[in-house]
Amino acid sequence: MEPSPSAPLPFAVADFQKALLTWYREHQRPLPWRSQPSLYKTVVSEFMLQQTQVKTMLPYYARWLEAFPDFHQLASASEAKVLKHWEGLGYYSRARNLHALARRWVALPEPPTDAAGWMDLPGVGPYTAAAVVSMAFGRPVACVDGNVVRILSRLTANATLFRDSASAAKALSTEADALLSRASPGDHNQAMMELGATVCHRQSPLCLTCPVRPFCQAARRGDPESFPRLAPKKMEKRSVVRAWCLESGRLLLHRAPAKAKRLANQHELPTFEHLGLAPPVAAATVEPLAVRKRGITRYAITESIHRLAPPRRLDLAALDLVWVDVDQLDTITLSGPHKRWIAEVLELLKAE
Ligand code: ADE
Repeated sequence: MEPSPSAPLPFAVADFQKALLTWYREHQRPLPWRSQPSLYKTVVSEFMLQQTQVKTMLPYYARWLEAFPDFHQLASASEAKVLKHWEGLGYYSRARNLHALARRWVALPEPPTDAAGWMDLPGVGPYTAAAVVSMAFGRPVACVDGNVVRILSRLTANATLFRDSASAAKALSTEADALLSRASPGDHNQAMMELGATVCHRQSPLCLTCPVRPFCQAARRGDPESFPRLAPKKMEKRSVVRAWCLESGRLLLHRAPAKAKRLANQHELPTFEHLGLAPPVAAATVEPLAVRKRGITRYAITESIHRLAPPRRLDLAALDLVWVDVDQLDTITLSGPHKRWIAEVLELLKAE
């Protein structure tokens, strides 16, 4: 991952770096991990930013740093507390990996300072390793995320049709390295991400105010939105039917087992299958309380929530089911969408 010196970029790299860094130092958003940076803050912010936008993660970041101010406090926290503080951010394996990373980190005789050493730690891929070692240790390793792919493919009007964002990142990593400022790799990487997040938008990029417009072929051609070229994702349709069993102020929920790959220990409205029931008859004839659509990886999922009288003789423990008082819902960990849907349905029922 060391920079290659001679990737063919159609402009003077030093001029590009200067324009980018000058802009960044003047226009960067005042983000909490930037004002008094530390390794821990960099790692936490990069984990949260792996799948989440800055404005969404900021309140989580603030609460996280209050609860777990350093690697040691995070390492000694319980998994339940860690997951509770991640609740709503989604992609919970990030929280589990960050927790495991803290436990490994505190046990290391010497924490790694290079990208390969960081990639041995849980949840750290090439992007996060590059971000951490460039920002915290000044190592010359370029970050290539979706923002950087967008900027690079526009700079050179790269017409390659990439299979997906990950293969585009791989293909463009040589150019990213060639562009990297060796003098300020951390600021350079953050400046690229900042430019992608605040100027070089996927749609309607702000080319007129872009600090690196003179270097950009796509801006010159007037069609920046044509880049990068990514093959359309094939989404598979799925439907899920869920049960709303509310009795004596208690709601029936499914808690994913601790060993579950996704959503371990998290609560969701049960599917009919969770209750040992076949959904279609009731689902086809009774109007659902709510229908919600969401995408998870390559699945386009339609979820419908149906009122159901609680089935008798449920073996709660065997089926991983629990009754939770509606006014105690804040004390358990609900997956993000379910937290929202339950609030919406409760609101709806109030009006009945
Ligand atoms: N996205 C990922 N890391 C980031 C950072 N450090 N600043 C802004 N956006 C980011």
